[in-house]
Amino acid sequence: MLRGNIELWLATITCIFIGAGYGLISLWTREIPAAGELIGHTLGIIGFILMLMTEILYSIRKRSRRATLGRMSTWLRFHIYMGLVGPFMVLLHTSWKFNGLAGATTLLTVIIVFSGIIGRYIFTRIPRTLDGIEIEGALSQEALRRGRQFLALWHTVHIPIGMALFISAFIHIGGALYYATFLK
Ligand code: HEM
Ligand code: HEM
Repeated sequence: MLRGNIELWLATITCIFIGAGYGLISLWTREIPAAGELIGHTLGIIGFILMLMTEILYSIRKRSRRATLGRMSTWLRFHIYMGLVGPFMVLLHTSWKFNGLAGATTLLTVIIVFSGIIGRYIFTRIPRTLDGIEIEGALSQEALRRGRQFLALWHTVHIPIGMALFISAFIHIGGALYYATFLK
């Protein structure tokens, strides 16, 4: 699955670097970086900004007709890169505690990333069946119909979950900043 998908390679390498830095800091300080302190906070904020960019930028490009803004496929690569690195940073931000709303937000994040991986995998396979080379005639029509149905179903998972995720994330951020940061 990684072959030819540069964004997956780059995201994996970036996550390895960030994970290594996180591991070294944990070893050095002999504790897991707390979500509300410098390292944990920084990871949460940068990761969340990347996730916001994942949500917004590709949608804007998709709705814009100006070809000068760059190719859709390039934007999708950015979408996937930021959509993997951002959630990874947010995961490190959690300090491996998943209580209440923040825990639910993390679960939604995990679901959207997995749905993205599944969608992308099937998404890239559909054009191949479109050529009708692999499957002929009526069988190919049936395969296409199913492919489209699956894609429609997939959109109903990936997109609304993204919205639910950002609503709960904003409530978490407001609450966490108010109670854990400003009231300290
Ligand atoms: C989608 C993005 C985010 C997710 C999924 C997330 C998730 C979490 C989780 C699971 C925890 C641990 C809760 C617990 O103790 O059980 C946490 C703590 C915390 N988060 Fe986030 N977080 C996100 C973004 C942010 C951002 C952007 C900020 C700051 C602007 C932030 C600020 C905090 C703070 C201050 C705590 C510590 C709360 C405490 O010590 O009680 N989070 N977060
Ligand atoms: C923070 C994580 C993510 C968020 C918030 C997110 C959000 C979204 C949104 C809102 C769209 C709809 C764009 C539109 O039609 O206007 C979308 C489409 C898509 N996303 Fe994600 N996504 C995330 C991660 C991922 C990941 C990790 C992958 C793949 C590995 C992925 C693959 C896709 C694909 C293939 C599309 C469909 C492209 C299209 O129909 O044109 N996403 N995503």
